[in-house]
Amino acid sequence: MQRKQLHANGPVFSRIISGAWRWNLPETTVHALIESSLACGITTFDHADIYGDHNNEAIFGNILRKDPSLRRKMELVTKCGIKFPSAHRPASWVKHYDTSKEHIRWSAENSLKTLATDYIDLLLIHRPDPLLNPEEVAGAFTALKQSGKVLHFGVSNFTPAQFEMLQSYLSFPLVTNQIEISLATHAPMFDGSLDILMKHRVAPMAWSPLGGGKLLKDDAAVFSKAGKYAATQTQMALAWLLKHPSGIFPVIGTTKPDRIRESADAINIQLDLQDWFEMLKIVQGKEMP
Ligand SMILES: NC(=O)c1ccc[n+]([C@@H]2O[C@H](COP(=O)([O-])OP(=O)(O)OC[C@H]3O[C@@H](n4cnc5c(N)ncnc54)[C@H](OP(=O)(O)O)[C@@H]3O)[C@@H](O)[C@H]2O)c1
Repeated sequence: MQRKQLHANGPVFSRIISGAWRWNLPETTVHALIESSLACGITTFDHADIYGDHNNEAIFGNILRKDPSLRRKMELVTKCGIKFPSAHRPASWVKHYDTSKEHIRWSAENSLKTLATDYIDLLLIHRPDPLLNPEEVAGAFTALKQSGKVLHFGVSNFTPAQFEMLQSYLSFPLVTNQIEISLATHAPMFDGSLDILMKHRVAPMAWSPLGGGKLLKDDAAVFSKAGKYAATQTQMALAWLLKHPSGIFPVIGTTKPDRIRESADAINIQLDLQDWFEMLKIVQGKEMP
């Protein structure tokens, strides 16, 4: 598995990342998913405080508590800033965002405890908050960085303008914007989302790289060249993202060990230029202008 830095002052992650959003599963199953990931070189795991109604970090953390040696073999990403009504968070009566200094610091501390770790490799603001005060975010990030509790910071689902605005308040780089990119959601190829990251020499993370699974259909025309590469549909979809010069890190979401291995092998596929554009033509329903 290729390993790569998200930014010159950023963390080194495995090029394919395992996402824990759908891992609200028995501990033994999650343990098997962690081991399958590590076995094929996927060492980076993507969490959020809210995944599995606030359960998934805890399931993962229980595994690390029982086998602390695992932590040294992996990098942990988590997110904060979304709150919703839940038995775990009785103070919320409406889904909302909170990017106050106090909440970001509390959430990071809570993730540290829940994940049973003394540092987080990368903390992201989960969604752009209409009430985001960049001085508050900068204050929280700086305090967390100085304490060594969070090593790097980034955002998720930010527009280019939101990314640059927050960056302008920080004395260290945002090292990623985690956004939805796939053959099913290819707008970021054209709307400036990837260009702004390339301008700042920051690598994107791509969530739902298989369109949440909906791209994969027996007769999907977009994958008609899979045979030429001796590849599966999953591998073609990931290879299509990996070819982009911004250096996309796909965050896969499968709950099946075999599919983790299959995804890891996508790293070895180099799509031909014209095959890449043919796939884009099929999903866009028209050729390039
Ligand atoms: N930042 C954000 O706002 C945000 C939002 C959403 C997600 N994320 C992150 O991105 C990660 C990935 O998202 P995702 O789970 O939507 O990614 P995805 O990899 O596009 O989709 C995973 C889904 O596709 C299914 N799938 C995979 N291979 C399949 C196959 N061959 N046939 C049929 N179904 C198949 C999986 O089912 P099986 O489990 O059965 O394989 C799973 O339900 C999440 O875990 C999370 O870490 C971030």
